[in-house]
Amino acid sequence: MLETPNVADPKFKDRIKSRTYPVRETGGIVWAYLGPQGEAPPFPHWPFMDLPDSNRINVRAIVNCNYVQVIEGLVDSSHLTVLHSSALAKTNDSDLDYAKKTTHMQFDSAPIIEADETDFGFHYVAIRQGEAQRIARVTSFITPCFIANANGDLLLMIVPVNDERCNFFHVWWDDEKAVGEEPLRSQQLVFVGLDDATLRKYGMTEDTCDTPAAMSLANGFGQDKQSQRNGHFSGFDSITQEDAACSISSGKIRDRSQEMLCSADVAISRLHRSLLTAARAARDQQEIPALSSELGRAIGVSGEIGPDEDWRSLVPHHRITSSSRARTGQGR
Ligand SMILES: [Fe+2]
Repeated sequence: MLETPNVADPKFKDRIKSRTYPVRETGGIVWAYLGPQGEAPPFPHWPFMDLPDSNRINVRAIVNCNYVQVIEGLVDSSHLTVLHSSALAKTNDSDLDYAKKTTHMQFDSAPIIEADETDFGFHYVAIRQGEAQRIARVTSFITPCFIANANGDLLLMIVPVNDERCNFFHVWWDDEKAVGEEPLRSQQLVFVGLDDATLRKYGMTEDTCDTPAAMSLANGFGQDKQSQRNGHFSGFDSITQEDAACSISSGKIRDRSQEMLCSADVAISRLHRSLLTAARAARDQQEIPALSSELGRAIGVSGEIGPDEDWRSLVPHHRITSSSRARTGQGR
């Protein structure tokens, strides 16, 4: 509704039209479609949209760099074993489901990586060899900005604010446990560095992202060198800040002209291909094929697989459009 209280003519406002966009509220998120009228892609449906607030954690961080840099970190499984090694060491003593699902990632920093292009974008696997089991973690990139994490209970949405800043939305859910209520909510958020105090400390909230607290070269990105001297690998509070420091420190828009991708980066090269395909289609005013697929079908999942078992048995309903394999590490 429009009001023009500073104009005497009461009919003035009736001659003005305001642009509006369709909005939908579900899963603790307000979703807006900003494209041409009548051309909205099918609205995705993910499992967390059927759950009450009590069974869901919604949280947002602001990252001061181009959104693609954040997504690149999310499709790079091998970095967890290295960059997050101190955080993963804490999983040994934690009762959190998240900790139990990631503890095996402390081992095997060179997992086997394979990726397929799919109708929704691409999915990739990281296969790690444990003491007696082979664990496959399948992550999906869903065009244009969604990640279905391999833990199976986490959807990540990385939405540009502008070219040099993005909103990093997280949704965790659990069919049984009230993860959205205390103490589980705070335990989870503190563990990954998404609690309000830690986000504010690093300038990752709306009211701190333009303050001196925001991670920058001037403040050393908030890295605690003394903590490193005491044995902490990175010197950051937790996983979220470790990832953000890597994303931001390479520049607000990373210079990729000197980039040297290796076989461990096969998922990142698939990401670039997916985004470029979508961008070219948009530029040429063509339909973006991935957006017409049923996006909510795409999942992330982890599971044990046998020595000769194809990891794709974990995602039999994903429609693969082409495959690309890369093998890293010890080739197990
Ligand atoms: Fe990470």
